[in-house]
Amino acid sequence: MSDIPGKFISLEGSEGVGKTTSLNFIRDLIESKGHKVLVTREPGGTPLAEDLRATLLANRKEIIEPDAELLMMFAARSQHVKQAIMPALESGTWVLSDRFIDASYAYQGGGRGIPFERIAELENWTLDGFKPDLTILLDMSVEEGMTRTRQRGKPDRFETEKMAFYEEVRNAYLLRARRDPERIHLIDASPDIETVQRSLQSLLQTICFAKN
Ligand code: TMP
Repeated sequence: MSDIPGKFISLEGSEGVGKTTSLNFIRDLIESKGHKVLVTREPGGTPLAEDLRATLLANRKEIIEPDAELLMMFAARSQHVKQAIMPALESGTWVLSDRFIDASYAYQGGGRGIPFERIAELENWTLDGFKPDLTILLDMSVEEGMTRTRQRGKPDRFETEKMAFYEEVRNAYLLRARRDPERIHLIDASPDIETVQRSLQSLLQTICFAKN
């Protein structure tokens, strides 16, 4: 863990894995230990980054080029880190982000086929080694996740992608987790909510609260 007073946790996973429920659970858990928490999301988290989010998620006739999509994700992230995440962490507030850097490797890397090395160049440029202290990857089969997503409202531009896209997204996430097991922790999101929450609680206890 870094020397910055607050801790930075990101939550990742492909569509339908139950990120929102888990996010609320983790926020309550952190608050119950007496810490302030900023709950935020990517793309988004500042007014400008939220504008970029709306642009990125809107369904449109014009095809967005993968590089353009990636650059907009990083433009939003750069603003988010400098204007919202860093100031919070420096003041001792914990930050819990619904997605962060690993989503760019999973969606623009795995899903859109942009080489990881190219994404790493942007990561080095804009984040300069800054990473979450802990990343929780909620994982389930693409089929199950898609079934859950279909039960929601109108799909956004990403949710209309085919199964094959999501298989690549999931594979890229799993590869990231294998390559960085110290930071990225996998949680099986397919069991019932109580089981998933027990796994989250024990992970946070071990990684974040052990010395509290
Ligand atoms: P969600 O937060 O509702 O899942 O929507 C955000 C969408 O943006 C989701 O489909 C994943 C996508 N995304 C990327 O493609 N790359 C990124 O770097 C981030 C942060 C999100």
